[in-house]
Amino acid sequence: MLRLAEPRFGPEALEAIGQVLASGHLTQGPVVAEFEAAVAAFCGVRHGVATTSATTALELVLAALDIGPGDEVIAADFTYPATGNAVLQRGAALRLADADASTYCVAPDAIEALLSPRTKAVLAVDVFGLPADYAAIEPLLEHHGVPLVCDAACSLGGALDQRRCGSFGRAGCFSFHPRKSLTTGEGGMVVTDDDALAERMRELRNHGTRREGWRSTFVEPGFNYRMSDLNAALGLVQVPAHESTVRTRNALAARLSAQLERVDGIRPQHVPVAALHPYQAYVVTCDPALERDALIAALREQGVESTLGTYAMHAEPAFARACGTAPGDLPVSDALARSTLALPLHQGLTEADIDTVARALDAAVRQLPAR
Ligand SMILES: Cc1ncc(COP(=O)(O)O)c(C=O)c1O
Repeated sequence: MLRLAEPRFGPEALEAIGQVLASGHLTQGPVVAEFEAAVAAFCGVRHGVATTSATTALELVLAALDIGPGDEVIAADFTYPATGNAVLQRGAALRLADADASTYCVAPDAIEALLSPRTKAVLAVDVFGLPADYAAIEPLLEHHGVPLVCDAACSLGGALDQRRCGSFGRAGCFSFHPRKSLTTGEGGMVVTDDDALAERMRELRNHGTRREGWRSTFVEPGFNYRMSDLNAALGLVQVPAHESTVRTRNALAARLSAQLERVDGIRPQHVPVAALHPYQAYVVTCDPALERDALIAALREQGVESTLGTYAMHAEPAFARACGTAPGDLPVSDALARSTLALPLHQGLTEADIDTVARALDAAVRQLPAR
């Protein structure tokens, strides 16, 4: 089976984990600090604050921005719903913004239409790794004085106008889940240039404590969102190769896109010229005449794993209840959730594997009965 993602580690990963085990220091320690510095430097920002996941990274930023009950947060609707969960877990009201049909990222005018005096932050999402339209979103939010937080869960190594993902807005949140191109098993990180925000997040993730001499002072109610040195060791060994990982994924994606031009009814995610897509996932839109779920089944029969792109939050029960929405209220996102298809793409695949994926999709499209 050609898998959607396949984490692979060399002997250096085992050695790094062995060193942490031998050190006896297993929770957050010097290796986490090194991993934070490496990721922050990679993104061209001053601070990295490692967490247990992208979800807790998002919650940590929102907490450090003092977002809670009575506040509104605007978020991209077409996303893995962790984005919205982070807002609801803060007790804030979630306002969902529709997507652009070609890039799948949040439409800047949809954000603008939802801005209100109660808006305390906007969560843009780099969908499947493609940077959101920050050239439009950053100036819009600066003009309104509203902090931009980037759900960069999928976009480590992506860039827009030569600026790396994670460096836009007040903060960016990465995921190191095993479906991501750099994984620590579970894990996440906030990156930011804001010194005060970084310091507050470091305290909040560690029970709201500040170190004073040999003891901790509990300065405010906090969380335990600490990453362990074991997870960080796994991440740290992958950072030096990450640029080349992104290049490999790009080359494979270009090959797949070229071959899919010959497949009727299939359109890859549009990548604007100024953007570098790190391809956490390679996703296409299927024409309405093609039944996406039947394609998933037909691909599986040919040994090719595939799945839906991602979700329209407003149509999922938890968010429909919280936001008072019904499926279809955000029509672009709703259509994308029904028609997008993720195909295998990772650095362990060969060009021949990519050709197999393209051929399998072509065959699956041809064998489907017309709707
Ligand atoms: C856009 C987006 N945000 C957040 C998350 C949650 O990441 P994590 O599993 O690290 O909490 C994901 C996971 O796939 C995601 O795709």
